[in-house]
Amino acid sequence: MPAPTELENRLAAAGQAGLLRFWDELDEGGRWKLAGEIDAIDFDRITKLFAAKNAGPVDDGEDSPAAKARRATPPSAFVGRHDPRRSEASSVGKGLLAEGKVGAILVAGGQGTRLGFDKPKGMYPIGPISEKTLFQILCEQLLQRAQTAGVAVPYYVMTSDATHDATVAFFEEHAFFRLPPEDVFFFRQGNMPAVDAATGEVLLAAKDAVAKSPDGHGGLLAGLKASGALADMAARGVEVLHYHQVDNPTAIVCDPVVLGFHRMHGSEMTTKVVPKVSPTEKMGLVCEVDGSTQIVEYSDLPDDVAEKRADDGELFLRWGNTAIHVFERAFLDRLADDADALPFHVAHKKVGHLASDGGVVTPDAPNAYKFERFIFDALPAAEVALVVETNRAREFNPVKNASGADSPATSRQALIDLHTYWMRQAGAEIADGIKVEISPLFAVDSEQVARKITPGTRYVDDLYLTSRTAAH
Ligand code: UTP
Repeated sequence: MPAPTELENRLAAAGQAGLLRFWDELDEGGRWKLAGEIDAIDFDRITKLFAAKNAGPVDDGEDSPAAKARRATPPSAFVGRHDPRRSEASSVGKGLLAEGKVGAILVAGGQGTRLGFDKPKGMYPIGPISEKTLFQILCEQLLQRAQTAGVAVPYYVMTSDATHDATVAFFEEHAFFRLPPEDVFFFRQGNMPAVDAATGEVLLAAKDAVAKSPDGHGGLLAGLKASGALADMAARGVEVLHYHQVDNPTAIVCDPVVLGFHRMHGSEMTTKVVPKVSPTEKMGLVCEVDGSTQIVEYSDLPDDVAEKRADDGELFLRWGNTAIHVFERAFLDRLADDADALPFHVAHKKVGHLASDGGVVTPDAPNAYKFERFIFDALPAAEVALVVETNRAREFNPVKNASGADSPATSRQALIDLHTYWMRQAGAEIADGIKVEISPLFAVDSEQVARKITPGTRYVDDLYLTSRTAAH
């Protein structure tokens, strides 16, 4: 059977006729599959993105990223780490939680290519002693928060085709880490096809499959809407969402302090930042450009701007994005109604595919463009945005790479250091060099630890405190 004429015509008009190259070799099932995948592609968008990328950096006017970076200033709506209103903010945040107005969003659709783990990253064992997974540590934090507040805190977990089945199965195998299953809402983000960087042609991963990957954490907006998650939030009376990523076990899930500041400021989107450690650190910077809060990417930062110092000797632009945000549900709702609310970013990557002769290509240099949206690009759309500083060692310890910086080793050590600190704050004597791990079900901060241990107790062996650990 030849390819349906309508499909052929549509692809020919888009310059993508090559997608049907192997049509005659496919069985009925393969044809349906391929036609379905092609149908999901917005070729108009792909053509425009490719044309814009290949036109190169024509835009050196005042809207170019470098010109914007030169106009950037530190954010003016800013709450520092030692703000005297912290305890007021904490009460406001706890009030929101107790009224059932808070939900949490976990994005777990990424492919984790840098880590090189063969399962979804959330299944990575990170607990220094317990070997609990990233998923478990985050879920237990949420459970603790919900139990303390005495209400349900729904968890909206974004997956992708790359992670969905394994993630759902893992939660089921572990009885949702004791979260009520009805409070865990899985939804899938979309995909974007990869295109040949030289020709703009969409690549095939197999004779019956397009080469595609998740459309970035900005796929959250469309995913929330299409899955009914936004409607679920509304039905539950959830007004505020705490957003965090699966790779950071020290993110303070539903931190009452940031929730409180967000509400006190009347913010639509609040983001937590940490100081950059060096001018060259590869971190997006939260800045103000022409009166709107936004992220300037490190790659867009001219060296002289990256190195510029303020009067106090600190970097002039120094607030790095932690990817921990708070959103008003109404803001997400509004953005999700606009399919173009977030721009696409284009990345030059190695993408394996089928050549026109059917041979498998495994490139050793970037050969393709991938398209992704980033959720932090929502910041400028917020009518009111807020930036809140957090303690880097406390809260920003992501697992990105297999070794070196931002790896399992650094993240595990951060958990040990943090939990050792909590114990010492609570009056325990911790021998140097031992490992300490505290389950979120035992405590999520030093005050909770202090209520459960006897000051002055000395610990000389590795110590794991769980919910079953008797008080000392
Ligand atoms: P990263 O941007 O670090 O990507 O994701 P990644 O997929 O985990 O790792 P690399 O870049 O391939 O090595 C930051 C967070 O955003 C989620 C990830 O799961 C992680 O929690 N994410 C990323 C998505 O949910 N979807 C995406 O399409 C991309």
